[in-house]
Amino acid sequence: MKTVSLTIDGEKVTARQGEKVLWAALDNGIYIPNLCALRDASEIPAACRLCFVEVEGKEQPVTACTETVEPGMVVNTRGPSALRLARTAFELLMSSHPVDCAHCPANGSCELQKIAHHLGTKLKTRRFRKLLRELPVDSSSPVFIYDPNKCVLCGRCIWICRERLGIGVLGFAHRGFERVVTTFADEPIAESGCRDCGECVVVCPTGALTFKEQ
Ligand code: FES
Repeated sequence: MKTVSLTIDGEKVTARQGEKVLWAALDNGIYIPNLCALRDASEIPAACRLCFVEVEGKEQPVTACTETVEPGMVVNTRGPSALRLARTAFELLMSSHPVDCAHCPANGSCELQKIAHHLGTKLKTRRFRKLLRELPVDSSSPVFIYDPNKCVLCGRCIWICRERLGIGVLGFAHRGFERVVTTFADEPIAESGCRDCGECVVVCPTGALTFKEQ
């Protein structure tokens, strides 16, 4: 396996040739906020816009999940322009996300809490008008609960169900603010062909999918 050497946040690291900066950083213990990236996925959605980094020689910040490592590359994950873009994306995301951590089963393990801490921002944003979706919660599965109001549309559950397990019960429906992860014909999970393996719950970064015993 060919490797390349690069510098991330002043640290010399090596990464597999062709690897994306995001994975090179995470593999070397350097955190970059991310929600929509999946290492094994054939397509990179680059949808969450949280993984901005600055690369020496590039005028604008780039998304770490799409940027391929180069020999001698110098990456700054804490540059002001990158952080500004990531904070804006995060605050926009949180403007349609209910914040009730005390009553959320994902409290303490939620990726949103981790990202807010990393970006030095709050979960409750004042910059954008709060617009909640108020969608019905699906408790029909014997194993887990799906609360679409807490979904960040990262697509991890869809990917694991379809690409990894070959089941394909979940998918995206609608566009824009109406966009949602749902079953075919929007039927309850229990009637969708779901096998209750719970793998989607494991990969969910928020409290959108939680085990009933949680
Ligand atoms: S992880 Fe890069 S845009 Fe979402």
